Amino acid sequence: MTGTGWGTGPAAGDGIALVRLVKSYGSVQAVRGVDLVIAPGETVALLGPNGAGKSTTIDMVLGLTRPDAGTVRVFGLAPAEAVAAGRIGGMLQTGSLVEYLSVRELVEVVASMYPHPRGVDEVLAATGTAAFANQRTTTLSGGQTQRVRFALALVADPDLLVLDEPTAALDVEARRDFWSAMRTVAEGGKTVLFATHYLEEADAYADRIVLMARGRVVADGPATEIKAKVGGRTIRATLPGTDVSVLRAMPGVTAADRHGESVVLTCGDSDAALRALLDGYPQARDVEVRGAGLEEAFLQLVGGEEEQR
Ligand SMILES: Nc1ncnc2c1ncn2[C@@H]1O[C@H](COP(=O)(O)OP(=O)(O)OP(=O)(O)O)[C@@H](O)[C@H]1O
Ligand SMILES: [Mg+2]
Repeated sequence: MTGTGWGTGPAAGDGIALVRLVKSYGSVQAVRGVDLVIAPGETVALLGPNGAGKSTTIDMVLGLTRPDAGTVRVFGLAPAEAVAAGRIGGMLQTGSLVEYLSVRELVEVVASMYPHPRGVDEVLAATGTAAFANQRTTTLSGGQTQRVRFALALVADPDLLVLDEPTAALDVEARRDFWSAMRTVAEGGKTVLFATHYLEEADAYADRIVLMARGRVVADGPATEIKAKVGGRTIRATLPGTDVSVLRAMPGVTAADRHGESVVLTCGDSDAALRALLDGYPQARDVEVRGAGLEEAFLQLVGGEEEQR
């Protein structure tokens, strides 16, 4: 998987814009007013629990589902136009590959449908599918099938890649391989929108995380910002015999608890709290500052949304 030649980058344009998107299936409100702007070259992870509306949103970006209200523009085009022009490559969560074709034949057929496809050999090499290119699609393992789907998303040489849980059902190594191939491609200037359930994947591979729950965006920002949003950090220290109510009153501290000789400070501003702690209690030992995990942030934000209903 070499890193040369992937994409000249999108033409200057306004990237992707989702404006007040709404979609219901009967009485199920799958997407309930999603606003999202993605700049050209950005990699955005769409994260959220089952049924959050990730796939519905993605299907609207791909022009597979028509919104009830709101608009989608992809590089200034309607989704169907952008797809026809080969500017969007999609990898869906469901659906099987065309049968009775080899991997190479399938990639060739799909390449022939677009105005400016990549070379088939180049795509096979970049996605790690060359080794089984002559195998029928029906004989592939789950991980191999995912790679072929990735090849099909890439072959149009799109400016925008939209991937719905691309690594679902892959083992750890296959996931790592997938993302390393993906990185090579994204470094060529492509815009990427992917849905995932793996928090560590979103954290590791996206510039930005958009959290969805119950059809809405509940948080949107860099992973670090999302972590900070939920009160962020805790400070632990060994500090015997100190009154926690005094600690609780320090700048930047929102809560303080004692566990034996240790104190745990929950902080809104951990920098201010740390300064106050060290100034006021030079005897504090084993001081540790920790960020809240993305998992924690995720649960809190999703939980907050539920409470608001
Ligand atoms: N074709 C459909 N017909 C009826 N309901 C649907 C359809 N597609 C999705 N839904 C419903 O819309 C809601 C959002 O589903 P969606 O597939 O967008 O969620 P998701 O975030 O992709 O979930 P997952 O993580 O499970 O893939 C769910 O309640 C789902 O049952
Ligand atoms: Mg989905």
